[in-house]
Amino acid sequence: MKFAILGTGIMGRGWITQCAMTGHDVYCFDANPDMLAGVAGGCDKLAATAAKKFKIDEPDFVTNAAKKITTYPDKDAFIAAAKDCDVFLEVIFEDLKLKCKVLADFLPQLSDKVVFWSNTSSLDINPMAEAGGRPEQSIITHGMNPVPLMPGVEVVPGDKTSPETVEFTRQTLLDMKKAPFLAPNIPGFWVNRLLVPQMLDAVRLLEQGKIQVEDGDIGLNTSLGHPQGTFKLHDFVTAPTMLRVALQMYQASNDPRMYPPLALMRMVKNGEFGASSGTGFYDWSDPRHPKPRDLSHYVISTAEDMTDQLK
Ligand SMILES: NC(=O)c1ccc[n+]([C@@H]2O[C@H](COP(=O)([O-])OP(=O)(O)OC[C@H]3O[C@@H](n4cnc5c(N)ncnc54)[C@H](O)[C@@H]3O)[C@@H](O)[C@H]2O)c1
Repeated sequence: MKFAILGTGIMGRGWITQCAMTGHDVYCFDANPDMLAGVAGGCDKLAATAAKKFKIDEPDFVTNAAKKITTYPDKDAFIAAAKDCDVFLEVIFEDLKLKCKVLADFLPQLSDKVVFWSNTSSLDINPMAEAGGRPEQSIITHGMNPVPLMPGVEVVPGDKTSPETVEFTRQTLLDMKKAPFLAPNIPGFWVNRLLVPQMLDAVRLLEQGKIQVEDGDIGLNTSLGHPQGTFKLHDFVTAPTMLRVALQMYQASNDPRMYPPLALMRMVKNGEFGASSGTGFYDWSDPRHPKPRDLSHYVISTAEDMTDQLK
């Protein structure tokens, strides 16, 4: 099969690798040329990690996967290649207006048979499906990070998604060695509907000085079996993506628990994005041994602390 993938950041690279590892041709484009330039190295690394984890004993596994990937620095060349693909997957920023605008541009240029998948973590499929002009063939496939290592994929049909699209998507994902499951089209679907408020509560408790990074993660890891705890997970998701997801879920639900905490906004402002930027809740200068940071400067005890944080 042929996959066209728009957006080659953290999740885009995960999907590109998964498609390529399972023998599909992948065509990719990103508005940021630097992100596109990092695809080859990033995907080789992911494929090598997956081979190790799943004990894949094929000497040319990584190079064979790499051969399936083509990057297009030129948007028109990407659209020409994507025109008769089987699946067009969008993996761009978590911003409904942006996604709708981009889909209204790209999808009408593709053949009628192309099925549209969105990897959104929390957004409503219906406006995206309408913007792209093929609602019957539009569906969410929300993969987990890192895609080649985490089997789960939320499959979220919209109001007009056809049963054929649901079945095609489910079967294609199974063939790609994923574990698809149906989830409702509500803000955050199933996984993030439960997870995001919990992750935001953790930041709020840290902001109140009630929990430290290390204790918080040891607690969740050793008591609930969460492999990364919550703060390390924040660092893998990245602060900008968490902020976008929280804000969109807040706007869609009006639930105050979804409102992004001030510490999260400040971390984004300060470039403390997480593992990818080298600093987040942890110091990632040695990525194999991240060190929990002292974030007491983010603690808000008084009204003055709060206004100081705005500076
Ligand atoms: N980070 C996670 O753990 C995670 C997990 C599941 C789902 N998601 C979802 O996946 C999507 C992407 O998230 P990410 O973490 O990969 O973000 P990211 O910031 O790492 O990557 C997004 C990419 O989209 C590109 N982009 C933005 N606008 C574009 C446009 N108009 N045309 C082409 N490319 C464009 C950016 O240049 C960037 O490379 C979001 O919807 C997010 O909610 C993220």
